Amino acid sequence: MNISFTHADGTVQSVAAKVGERLLDVAQHHGLPMEGTCEGHMACATCHVIVAKAWYDTLPKPGNDELDMLDFAPGLSGTSRLACQIWLTEALDGLAVRLPG
Ligand code: FES
Repeated sequence: MNISFTHADGTVQSVAAKVGERLLDVAQHHGLPMEGTCEGHMACATCHVIVAKAWYDTLPKPGNDELDMLDFAPGLSGTSRLACQIWLTEALDGLAVRLPG
């Protein structure tokens, strides 16, 4: 499966991923600029991504803990998510997200 990351400068980078992987791990594996400081414990918001509107509803809804942490994310948008809370399923092949500046 493929995931499309749009960098802050508008460059689009498509990377290969596997079902069951976490979006944070995919991004870091491919050297994308995503810190993920707390390694997925929902304590940092440095894994913030903005999901393309067309894909947002395909993702399971964020929990309250994720929404609370997103409040600390710079550049928050209506389709913001934490990449450490997105596990890839077949339905997410082609998922498009933007990396906030
Ligand atoms: S890695 Fe810290 S909240 Fe996602």
